Amino acid sequence: MNRPVTSAARPRGLSRRDTSLTELMDDPDCDPRALAATYRRFDLVNRLVSAWGRVYREHVAPELRSLGRRARVLDLGCGGGDVVVRLAALAARDGLAVDWVGADPDPRAHTAALERQRSGVRFVAAGSRELLEAGQRFDLVVSNHVLHHLDTEGLRSFADDSLALSRGAVLHADIARSRPAYALYAVGITPLSAGTFLRVDGLRSIRRSYRAPELAAALGSPWRVETPAPFRVLAVARGRAHADA
Ligand SMILES: C[S@@+](CC[C@H](N)C(=O)[O-])C[C@H]1O[C@@H](n2cnc3c(N)ncnc32)[C@H](O)[C@@H]1O
Repeated sequence: MNRPVTSAARPRGLSRRDTSLTELMDDPDCDPRALAATYRRFDLVNRLVSAWGRVYREHVAPELRSLGRRARVLDLGCGGGDVVVRLAALAARDGLAVDWVGADPDPRAHTAALERQRSGVRFVAAGSRELLEAGQRFDLVVSNHVLHHLDTEGLRSFADDSLALSRGAVLHADIARSRPAYALYAVGITPLSAGTFLRVDGLRSIRRSYRAPELAAALGSPWRVETPAPFRVLAVARGRAHADA
């Protein structure tokens, strides 16, 4: 839980994570129209900033190819579903047979994701723990922009659940906090942000996000943290689900 703190106690600049900030979209009473517009626009923003094309080429495609059979892949905390739909399109182009699942416990995110539903991609309204308890297992688990939203306990359980859900790799992608990322995003997002939370929440996200060594320390073993592109971190580990699960 993030408690409000006085401005005197808040980190100045970007030298430390500002975990006192809460994103507008995390408020259950936020404007539903602005939230829906934000989910829709994430598609473009994630394409511009998230480096999933590269992560797909360097991690996802080799992992799926190595299976030599139809794969089952989970996007955990899929939000409006644009990342899993994009990965599905990239894999289909490469002739890889995959059943994709996008899961999010927030009903507002699930409703937004259903607008993107298509063949080969299924959206479920569930969190990591529910999926685990339902006996769901996957060949690969990915997430985008979830880690920085979580408090210490939430990060631990999300990371542990993701390992237990995967028989193969786990890939958690997020923003890397930096001054240039903040300055570039502040300017670049302005023409795209009308009617959405993209500007306020994106800047708060950068302030809340980790640098690679901080994320490595927060996650601990067995995770390693890569920097797949400027202003990005990617936490990578092997899942713990049994191969026959
Ligand atoms: C900012 S959104 C990211 C959405 C999307 N991945 C994207 O990149 O646009 C973070 C999402 O993580 C979800 N989330 C938080 N904890 C989760 C958990 N334990 N299991 C699954 N999803 C979770 C939240 O409901 C929220 O929709």
